[in-house]
Amino acid sequence: MKILFIGDIFADIGRRVLAERLSPLVKEQEIDCCIANGENAAGGRGLTGNLAKKIRKYGVQVITGGNHSFTIPDNDVSFMDEPHVLRPLNYPPGNIGHGSTFITLENGMSIGVVNLQGRTFHNEQLDCPFRTGKLAIEELREKTRIIIVDFHAETTSEKLAFAAYIDGLASAVIGTHTHVQTADERILRGGTAFISDAGMTGPEESIIGMNAEPVIRHFLLQTHTRFEPSSQGAMLNAVIVDVDDASGKAHAISRIFERISFS
Ligand SMILES: [Fe+2]
Ligand SMILES: [Fe+2]
Repeated sequence: MKILFIGDIFADIGRRVLAERLSPLVKEQEIDCCIANGENAAGGRGLTGNLAKKIRKYGVQVITGGNHSFTIPDNDVSFMDEPHVLRPLNYPPGNIGHGSTFITLENGMSIGVVNLQGRTFHNEQLDCPFRTGKLAIEELREKTRIIIVDFHAETTSEKLAFAAYIDGLASAVIGTHTHVQTADERILRGGTAFISDAGMTGPEESIIGMNAEPVIRHFLLQTHTRFEPSSQGAMLNAVIVDVDDASGKAHAISRIFERISFS
């Protein structure tokens, strides 16, 4: 099975990239399942039910989240209950939504997806993503061997340590959140594919999605002004993981970094 994982979809540029490029890419690469991180799809922060619907229509089967998952601009949280929308699993019980899912694809094959959030330089009060994540993967393994983890975190070490911790139990651990694609894709000894960060699908000419000027001012003056999404330089960042259907182990992982000019 070939799985396409798309790095954080950022604002309207990111969504335009998907509208234009996803369907041809799925055909060219013979993709069976597409997963995308959607935590920045709504104006750079959060997601809405309408946007989730659009992203699904472009060809994404599961939308994962991160630290912006609980920012829902139109306050309609009902879509968070849908099986194809995830937020990090390791938030305290009682929060809306869910952090893992099991879906059956049109070709009859099944896949499990787990979404976790790291704690280092982030929200240190979250439940342990290592223990929570491993438990969720073990539960999913009773139904399928094909399991993809979106580990949403700041540090490369936390993401790689998690992948090493569960190596052989999941098909891939894919890092998200930094919006900067890393060049360290590999397959670990036990058969789990890994990359520290899949990157961002959105405006390349930006500071991780936002216009540069207010971000530079923030660093210079240490005061906060409103950040606005950039609309310059569209790109698609993703990885393709090729997984053995029976064992769930990864055969290959490859990066995609495409600059898009809209027709
Ligand atoms: Fe993000
Ligand atoms: Fe994030």
